[in-house]
Amino acid sequence: MQTKVLMVCLGNICRSPLAEGILKSKTDSQFVLVDSAGTAGYHIGNNPDQRSVAVAKKYGIDISGQRCRKFSYIDFAQFDIIYAMDLSNYNDIMALTNDKNEIEKVKLLLEEGSSSVKEVPDPYYGGADGFEEVYNLINEACTVIAEKLNSKRSSQNAN
Ligand code: 4NP
Repeated sequence: MQTKVLMVCLGNICRSPLAEGILKSKTDSQFVLVDSAGTAGYHIGNNPDQRSVAVAKKYGIDISGQRCRKFSYIDFAQFDIIYAMDLSNYNDIMALTNDKNEIEKVKLLLEEGSSSVKEVPDPYYGGADGFEEVYNLINEACTVIAEKLNSKRSSQNAN
């Protein structure tokens, strides 16, 4: 069975496109579907920010073809896990539902790693250094997530 994971930030042009690209690079698309969305609709239809495209490319990941879309209520039904990049995104998603099953799908991305930082900082108004830091934070969490998803798949195969 395919696990469906949605990465969410504010604009869906800086952080969540990186999270989508990084988790895709660590998982098999046959078993894990990864998408991303923004809680705001400022950049709908746009490609990711060039600074995110550049830092991903530096680590061998091409995110240039992604297109921005806005988070929608239907995403609660379409995804198994919804990762918010920061608490503001988390609260905006949570404000859309009272359903226990839907609430349980929503997590902060960095709760998955061992980082003492629990929010991926918004790099939009900063320089290239911010994008490198964001890449590293997201990469660490996605390594842990991918290990969990890949081991779930191995245990399914064993049964
Ligand atoms: P993101 O960054 O949420 O990581 O995609 C931002 C992108 C755009 C804006 C803010 C944050 N904006 O205000 O347009």
